[in-house]
Amino acid sequence: MPIQNPQRYTVTAALIYANGPIHIGHLAGCYLPADIYVRYLRSRERDVVFISGTDEHGVPITIKARNEGVTPQEVVDKYYVQIRDSFRDFGISFDIYSRTTKPAHHQVSQDFFTTLYDKGVFEEKVTEQYYDSTAKQFLADRYSVGTCPNCANPNAYGDQCEKCGTSLSPEELINPHSTLSGEPPVKRETKNWYLPLDKLQPAIKGYVDSHPEWKPNVFGQCQSWLNQGLHSRAMTRDLDWGVKVPLADTEGKVLYVWFDAPIGYITFTKELLESRGQDWEPYWKDGQTKLVHFIGKDNIVFHCIIFPAMMMEHGGFTLADNVPANEFMNLEGNKISTSRNWAVWLHEYLQDFPGKQDILRYALCANAPETKDSDFSWKDFQARNNNELVAILGNFINRAAVLTHKHFAGKVPARNQLYDIDLGVIENIRQFPAQIAGSLEAYRFREALSYVMDLARVGNKYLADTEPWKLVTGDPARVQTILNLSLQLAANLAIVMEPFLPFSAERLAGMLNIPLGKWKEAGRIDLLADDHRLNESFHLFTPIEDATIEAQGQKLLNTKKTNEAAAHATNVQNTPVTSAKPEVTFDDFGKMDIRVATILAAEAVPKTKKLLKLTLDTGMDKRTVVSGIAEHYQPDQIIGQQVCLLANLAPRDIKGIISQGMILMAENTDGSLAFVRPEKIITNGGTVK
Ligand code: MF3
Ligand code: ZN
Repeated sequence: MPIQNPQRYTVTAALIYANGPIHIGHLAGCYLPADIYVRYLRSRERDVVFISGTDEHGVPITIKARNEGVTPQEVVDKYYVQIRDSFRDFGISFDIYSRTTKPAHHQVSQDFFTTLYDKGVFEEKVTEQYYDSTAKQFLADRYSVGTCPNCANPNAYGDQCEKCGTSLSPEELINPHSTLSGEPPVKRETKNWYLPLDKLQPAIKGYVDSHPEWKPNVFGQCQSWLNQGLHSRAMTRDLDWGVKVPLADTEGKVLYVWFDAPIGYITFTKELLESRGQDWEPYWKDGQTKLVHFIGKDNIVFHCIIFPAMMMEHGGFTLADNVPANEFMNLEGNKISTSRNWAVWLHEYLQDFPGKQDILRYALCANAPETKDSDFSWKDFQARNNNELVAILGNFINRAAVLTHKHFAGKVPARNQLYDIDLGVIENIRQFPAQIAGSLEAYRFREALSYVMDLARVGNKYLADTEPWKLVTGDPARVQTILNLSLQLAANLAIVMEPFLPFSAERLAGMLNIPLGKWKEAGRIDLLADDHRLNESFHLFTPIEDATIEAQGQKLLNTKKTNEAAAHATNVQNTPVTSAKPEVTFDDFGKMDIRVATILAAEAVPKTKKLLKLTLDTGMDKRTVVSGIAEHYQPDQIIGQQVCLLANLAPRDIKGIISQGMILMAENTDGSLAFVRPEKIITNGGTVK
């Protein structure tokens, strides 16, 4: 059962590994919904702390350090700052953004471990683990790769196959090898401490079963883990980067990263409250505290099973009331991938769209992967901005403000007699905040945002139906009423849109010349006093041009090309060249009329990037050929050159030009092109055979 009337809220957002910059998938999956929720709670004047930071231990960090040839500490120092700043720039309003490498965190997680140890919770087991005898290191987690026993992906990691999502242990890999030396590992005995999840299963099941209200994707995944039966899991690792195991004779052993990381939520809460001179314990130990973990779907088992099990065994802690994990967001139809650079990076977005954080927040929330994976496309981004933010929200506010400036010197006119249509608007203003709040409290952020836009639509329709601009001379009293209510609606919008669009809400409040109101004020129609003076009006949102969107598309296309070229180059190196196309007869080849020709003229085909229009002397005639080489050659570079032409190719209409044949080009593995041409001058029309 969810907590009924919580006295306070502890809201956490996953501690992301500090091993790379962050992208829209991170924002959409976890941080944006968390921020919307917390901003809403603050507006409700609830007691809330919003906790996050970076996860700076674990194999993902040490592997990155190896790849970059720097120390793990250098890796986390670099990315901590970059990640923290990206979140700040997008208005993710953490109360604290800390790091797990801080000594205080080592202390808290060691104490936690010691408590469990002293209570006899752990099973101490000596097992054979993979060891790299060249690198002289145990191969924990991602240090071994091999073939997935489930889907045959040859690049599965020792802890997980990213292709099919199965969680693995290194011994399950087929043909394992070390990522350090590339050698097959040997087995070596080592001692580790295990959390007996098998024994704890009934208690964990009791906890999960008491939360049927969790999102179906979360509840379902937990049940599937429980149905398969939980297994004990090592809480220590033979590694030298991490929190040292606080026991004697454990040199070279650290806490499992998934043991210390969630404890980070506790450490950081402590750090925050201590800095405020307040007691942190109620935020974790009081039954009236609502603890909510925002995470992505790959973190469900850790937050719904392992961390709660740790907390139960420790004793004294509240368990999460909800874990509203999202699914993943794809990008233009493909899985977002850091290694393939298939992503929209937050810091790059800000360079390309300075000051436009709210558009991204809007597009990501409107299309959030709440119940299933969703897809981000630049076209959708543009449409969300142009058709919704500009055409509905921005347009309504602009019309109300501009008319007030024009006809009432920027002062809020008083209301006069009210008609049904006005009462309808007032009723909408009154009802929407509760409706939006209901969706927010149920973690349905897309729905909540759609209600915010519906309220803006109410305003738009009100102006369209009443057409105050036509009544200025005939019925000024009526115009006063309409503008008064429109402006009250705008002031309400500022309040309810703030969790989603905090930058625009501030700007709107500025335009209305009022402080940004709290949620309890929403629903009222006296937010602006009669004669209250507005500030100058401006457009809250402006349209995004096609060219801007095309440039983003081009950026992704370039990434795709680079990836394809890289994949191609690897294939070429690794596989002998075989004939890729089916066999043909000599007669088949003989059907092709290939001729030597000279380029007489060349010009770019307007409105295209790739095409050149060529005029060729074929010895038989002068003809036009459209060729896709504009990205490789300038027109004046190639005039006078000889080429080979497939002369009897059926003519084709390309961008309104009839192309009579095709120039032969050789393509390099990196995608660059070269002309195929005779090695000495041949009279135009000479055949190629
Ligand atoms: N570092 C993990 C990741 O990026 C998340 C850790 S969440 C915490 O997937 F609970 F452990 F903090
Ligand atoms: Zn697999």
